[in-house]
Amino acid sequence: MEPVKVGVLGLGTVGAGVVNLLARNGDEITRRAGREIRVTRAAVRSLDRARDCETGAIDIGTDARAIVEDPNIDVVLELIGGDELAYELVMAAIANGKHVVTANKHLIALHGNEIFAAADEAGVVVSFEAAVAGGIPIIKAIRESLAANRIEWVAGIINGTGNFILSQMKFEGVTFEQALAEAQKLGFAEADPTFDVDGIDAAHKLAILGSIAFGIPLSFDRIVTDGIRGIAADDIEYAEELGYRVKHLGIAQRQETGVAMRVHPTLVPERALLANVEGEKNAIMVHGDAVGPTAYYGAGAGAGATASAVVADLIDTARMMSVDPSGRVPHLAFQPDQITEEPI
Ligand code: HSE
Repeated sequence: MEPVKVGVLGLGTVGAGVVNLLARNGDEITRRAGREIRVTRAAVRSLDRARDCETGAIDIGTDARAIVEDPNIDVVLELIGGDELAYELVMAAIANGKHVVTANKHLIALHGNEIFAAADEAGVVVSFEAAVAGGIPIIKAIRESLAANRIEWVAGIINGTGNFILSQMKFEGVTFEQALAEAQKLGFAEADPTFDVDGIDAAHKLAILGSIAFGIPLSFDRIVTDGIRGIAADDIEYAEELGYRVKHLGIAQRQETGVAMRVHPTLVPERALLANVEGEKNAIMVHGDAVGPTAYYGAGAGAGATASAVVADLIDTARMMSVDPSGRVPHLAFQPDQITEEPI
């Protein structure tokens, strides 16, 4: 079967992570997807920059528009981030009948309503698992595994930089500024770190979670948003004396009048699960009426974790493209001839 041909917009940390993951686990990914997933083209801002991946087989250029218009590309993988250019390119990809995978929370939170409407119209799929909480499969968990539930609330630590700063201030005794500088050095922070420290990044992600959990339109503008800029070492210390931890949470809750969504520093009882999530890790709790509270924890940023979610979306897209007329999805159960390892 023909490979699924992917055109990547942006070959930075995450893009390189995707190329590396496809190379490393290629055989398993092909088996699970039912087809090989091959990155054939990439658009980058500068051709001079060194890449953290093997690029020999990829046609790399600087013209992103050429990729979204390329009839040989099946799936556009948008990893340039930001707002306007990403929106324009994704809409063009959809108009050209291409499926889209994106890790761009900003894009989905602000323009998701138009993007999904356009995708429906064009009969293509836009996937965005990596946009919320990096490697944690929270979109699929809510949309698929909890699909039978009426969701009561979603609450979580969905900005790793903010959580890292609060953890560093508590355990390492560093200042807010020092902790932020360290997060930037480690590569978790947004290009504009005000998105992290003022709660905007968390609000982007909460808009997406709220939409999926409660079936509401993406409503970024309706989220009450506050960040951690005003948190001082004293606040963390006093909270501790009272038996609490300061955590920056995103909370979406079903209420009689609608869904309330807010992002702000919160006093969390020190024995609660979310109080004990440290460093740049993310964690999300989802309460469904049938299942009760459930929890999801892991890496919310970084090349490997984000690539994990992006490639899972590429696999899903390939599976969908391979569904035969009987409705059989070839990948959902391993066939005997696909078994490559035995249990111990
Ligand atoms: N700046 C984001 C964070 C990156 O710290 O969570 C992942 O979305």
